[in-house]
Amino acid sequence: KNISLIGVPSDIGASDRGACMGPEALRVAGLAEELMDLGFAVKDTGNLYGPKNPENPPENGYRHLKENVIWSKNIQEAVFSEIHDGNLPITLGGDHAMSIGSIAAIARHCADQKKKLCVIWIDAHADFNTCDTSPSGNIHGMPVAVAAGYGPKELLAIGHKVPMVDAPDIYQVGIRSVDKHEKELVVEAGVVVYDMRCIDEIGMRETMHQILKEVEEKDACLHVSFDVDSLDPTIAPGVATTIPGGLTYREAQLCMEMIHDSGRMISLDIMEINPALDKQNGTAKLAVDLTTSLFGRQIFQPNRHNRKK
Ligand code: ARG
Ligand code: MN
Ligand code: MN
Ligand code: MN
Repeated sequence: KNISLIGVPSDIGASDRGACMGPEALRVAGLAEELMDLGFAVKDTGNLYGPKNPENPPENGYRHLKENVIWSKNIQEAVFSEIHDGNLPITLGGDHAMSIGSIAAIARHCADQKKKLCVIWIDAHADFNTCDTSPSGNIHGMPVAVAAGYGPKELLAIGHKVPMVDAPDIYQVGIRSVDKHEKELVVEAGVVVYDMRCIDEIGMRETMHQILKEVEEKDACLHVSFDVDSLDPTIAPGVATTIPGGLTYREAQLCMEMIHDSGRMISLDIMEINPALDKQNGTAKLAVDLTTSLFGRQIFQPNRHNRKK
């Protein structure tokens, strides 16, 4: 499979400016080169264009809805065109609102191919707000809700159908910050949530084993949406919405390695890297490191102890 990088330099969905520099930070950290080292052909399609950040307050519960619709349409078209051509798209965020466009594209592709789609959403946040539940009006707190069919008609219309993905086919990993009324909606919709308490109790191995077993039983394709704020802020400071108690380096590596081994991933988002808050591009470098595991880098073969007979 050939990989296509699609840069989405926008932070209109977030409170803090800076995620618009994420795509370039990932390039500087060597994303394309690392993937080529693994043997992939990598095409960097460059950055998409869209409205600049007007830094306006919310209107009717949403900040920058009009601008987001334009970005989402552009992203949907670009990601769809790459996957339709047989490539594996990596969407380089940008804030997490930009995943509305990428999920719309992947859902449309899977429908064309008559394949079921599951989404693994790796994040500190559930991103399941609507205008009624959001404390901020920021659309980066809403993309999962939109994918599952909850949101304004302008955003729901980005998809080829409503919902783009059924909530029970969305698996969240790393969650530890959910707004009060957002939580009620997550429960009502039936999103599958592996929060940090769960990961503490059963471990990342069992978490991913359970998720990937269901994906296998559903015979589904996988879209992985990786919000870098899922990682513990001590290892990933370059994000706007840090929440303590996140994934450790080893947990995140194992998560990526196990998704790779499933062989089911057809598309990836790497979101929310904010170079303005980062230290020497370390968060982007970490994201690149984890992405290489997601694409098959191994220390040795899995579970090989190298004992001589
Ligand atoms: N729940 C908060 C909100 O709705 C924070 C969302 C953070 N989302 C993100 N993609 N970083 O504003
Ligand atoms: Mn066609
Ligand atoms: Mn997020
Ligand atoms: Mn987040």
